[in-house]
Amino acid sequence: MNRSGPQGEDDELAEINSEVSNCRKCPLYLSRKKAVPGEGNPRAEVMLIGEAPGRVEDETGRPFVGAAGKLLDELLHEIGVDRGNLYITNVVKCRPPNNRDPTEEEINACKPYLIRQIAVVRPRKIITLGRHSTRVILSLNGLGFSELAKVRGKVFKVNIAGVNADVYPTYHPAAALYNPSVRNLIKEDLAKAFNASKGGSSILDYLNG
Ligand code: URA
Repeated sequence: MNRSGPQGEDDELAEINSEVSNCRKCPLYLSRKKAVPGEGNPRAEVMLIGEAPGRVEDETGRPFVGAAGKLLDELLHEIGVDRGNLYITNVVKCRPPNNRDPTEEEINACKPYLIRQIAVVRPRKIITLGRHSTRVILSLNGLGFSELAKVRGKVFKVNIAGVNADVYPTYHPAAALYNPSVRNLIKEDLAKAFNASKGGSSILDYLNG
């Protein structure tokens, strides 16, 4: 699953992490405890992108380690995927107060960090968790959607910062905490993305390109 490649990704990600940790580009720096830049394999084939850190992430500086993260870990375990092989990050790197939705100002201030992370890791697959992440990633290629339900389970080809990737939109794991049917759909979408990365392209349903 890991790709060999030129060295330097670690340094470049470390530089992004340091900039994120000291970032004051939007007002969220005033209320955050810790910024949450992202973590994982610098040469991951698959990047998971969530919305923004929650309370536990804000305290630890790590993405997806609270309740939604535990559910995500469970799903990855059930489909036989090792989280350590992935790169996991969020659209917005600092916690919005009371876990409110991130604002456009916050998303736009933070977006360059996400684009740089994609440029360094060069994932072949991007799994967007939830509507904010899906909207931001698809809009970078001029794609839009009305409801997440209409695009989840489908695959979109994008080029971001020169990186060609297949995007797999799915629901946010927080939406599955008390909803077993959403849990099943996320599991199905994750399995589809990971099977495709093992060469199972016949199951792909390409909408674009
Ligand atoms: N929800 C997210 O979108 N990201 C996290 O890191 C945790 C919860």
